[in-house]
Amino acid sequence: MKIGPFELPNGLFVAPMAGVTDRPFRQLCRQLGAGYAVSEMVTSRPDLWHTPKTARRANHDGEPGPIAVQIAGTEPAMMADAARYNIDRGAQIIDINMGCPAKKVCNKWAGSALMQDEPLALSIVAAVVAACAPHGVPVTLKMRTGWCQAHRNAVALALAAEQAGVQMVTVHGRTREQGYNGFAEYDTVAAVKAALRVPVVANGDINSPEKARAVLADTGADAVMIGRAAQGRPWIFREISHYLATGEHLAPPLVAEVRQLLLSHLQDHYQLYGEFLGVRTARKHIGWYVSALPGGEDFRQQMNLIEDCATQLKAVAGYFDRINQSMDRLPVAQPGDLARETPRYLETLA
Ligand SMILES: Cc1cc2nc3c(=O)[nH]c(=O)nc-3n(C[C@H](O)[C@H](O)[C@H](O)COP(=O)(O)O)c2cc1C
Repeated sequence: MKIGPFELPNGLFVAPMAGVTDRPFRQLCRQLGAGYAVSEMVTSRPDLWHTPKTARRANHDGEPGPIAVQIAGTEPAMMADAARYNIDRGAQIIDINMGCPAKKVCNKWAGSALMQDEPLALSIVAAVVAACAPHGVPVTLKMRTGWCQAHRNAVALALAAEQAGVQMVTVHGRTREQGYNGFAEYDTVAAVKAALRVPVVANGDINSPEKARAVLADTGADAVMIGRAAQGRPWIFREISHYLATGEHLAPPLVAEVRQLLLSHLQDHYQLYGEFLGVRTARKHIGWYVSALPGGEDFRQQMNLIEDCATQLKAVAGYFDRINQSMDRLPVAQPGDLARETPRYLETLA
């Protein structure tokens, strides 16, 4: 699996999720078997580049390459500037967001809304490719199957984008109209794969090793991208990798290992966000880790009362020590455990 000049260790990608796939979480997923991670989207609006949120998203200190940054916006020239700005800050791959279901940028719809305006979508692609080419930086595109059920133009748009120089296309198997409702379909992903020469990545509702194998087989895609199912379960990548290689399931992780992973995830998280924001934004991650565990819901609620890092760390360690008294390993994950947070992320761009 290659993106331009970058050879990836495997075709298991962690999806960009604003408010979730920050640098600590991306690094954790990669440590646990993801071959590639795209950052949370960065706005193309220069007036927002200096906000703490955007500055944090553009900080890639210590992150293993290739560093892929996703940009979102509606104006070709601004998107080209955003690409250059991120390249200057270490981006080695630029991903264009045409997958986000509803976000206004500069009073216009960005993300998957661009699929409704193919000429504008392609001008953005052309401008970003032209900005990245002198730096040897590949451009990739993330899209949905189309605008609505009656207007599924992923194949036409992907083909035109490939001709304009895009080097990989990811397709989330839903239309924009669907938001996160219903189910992802993979026929359109398969049609995009059949039409393109560059690598195609299948995305949407992949939440188990079996599902990953089936989607790869059904679509012929070069890779799968996993979003919500990795929330609180970053080891899903090694589980899928093992299953694809052997046809056998890896045993669920030891409680002691998860305790250690979460504590070190939290330390990295606090380092990036600082104490005040760190403790608060860590709560959702902790809630996901414990959601399918005994007493997990009560514990999640207790977390909302804690306002400092040391107490949060101590509470998490104590919780896992308690459940370790009755189980060595996590229970086998059930697909129903994995209905994680769907986007309240729509306000997170700025
Ligand atoms: C909380 C959250 C934030 C997201 N943020 C982004 C984003 O910044 N850029 C993007 O292209 N897609 C974003 N998505 C969409 C995911 O990348 C992915 O396409 C979608 O969740 C479907 O994959 P899944 O079923 O594996 O979760 C987000 C999804 C969620 C749940």
